[in-house]
Amino acid sequence: TVTAPFAERLLAWFDDHGRHDLPWQHPRTPYRVWVSEIMLQQTQVATVIPYFERFMARFPDIESLAAAEADDVLSLWSGLGYYARARNLHAAARRLAESGVPETVDGWADLPGVGPSTAAAIVAQAFDRRAVILDGNVKRVLARHAAVDTPQETAATQRRLWALADEHTPATRAADYTQAIMDLGATVCRRGKPRCVVCPVSEDCEARRQDRQGELPVRRQR
Ligand code: ADE
Repeated sequence: TVTAPFAERLLAWFDDHGRHDLPWQHPRTPYRVWVSEIMLQQTQVATVIPYFERFMARFPDIESLAAAEADDVLSLWSGLGYYARARNLHAAARRLAESGVPETVDGWADLPGVGPSTAAAIVAQAFDRRAVILDGNVKRVLARHAAVDTPQETAATQRRLWALADEHTPATRAADYTQAIMDLGATVCRRGKPRCVVCPVSEDCEARRQDRQGELPVRRQR
């Protein structure tokens, strides 16, 4: 039997088991996607949701955020932590209000607080345009699937993971695929106790074949 491409199996799983009711998905505007991705950088979905709702109620668009006082932005962030994120968000809103909303990965990555993977996640979700993401969850999925057992921190491993991410990213359904692989990492290919029996890509997962899910990904020794 022939195994369907990684993306095809992941998207079929996402249709049935992925998260489709996240507040930033309805409506899925560039502003809402951007704010959600910044909040989600170091914080779990369940924690982010009420902060996101309050933030949108107070700052419904780029203009209102750009016009806000720094203290008002920080007070809505209070409890989420990593306050540099809020300061960067505010500074970036002022630039977006001046220059308009970019539609490219490079345009987003130019803004304070937006790295290459976050920029790609924004472009894929906001514009449904193909862009390659590689955040912590995705690195774990890919490192296990291909049994990448070199330390995550090295430049060579990062290049390998970006190449795998690029190979697996489909030409269509960019927004769904991006959400799907993040959901897989968060809910199935978890750091502890991965749920391989329900994983749509376990059939050709090299870590599982070698029974090394628990050892991968490998961190630099210290
Ligand atoms: N982490 C970063 N972005 C995310 C998203 N859109 N959904 C779930 N987890 C995420």
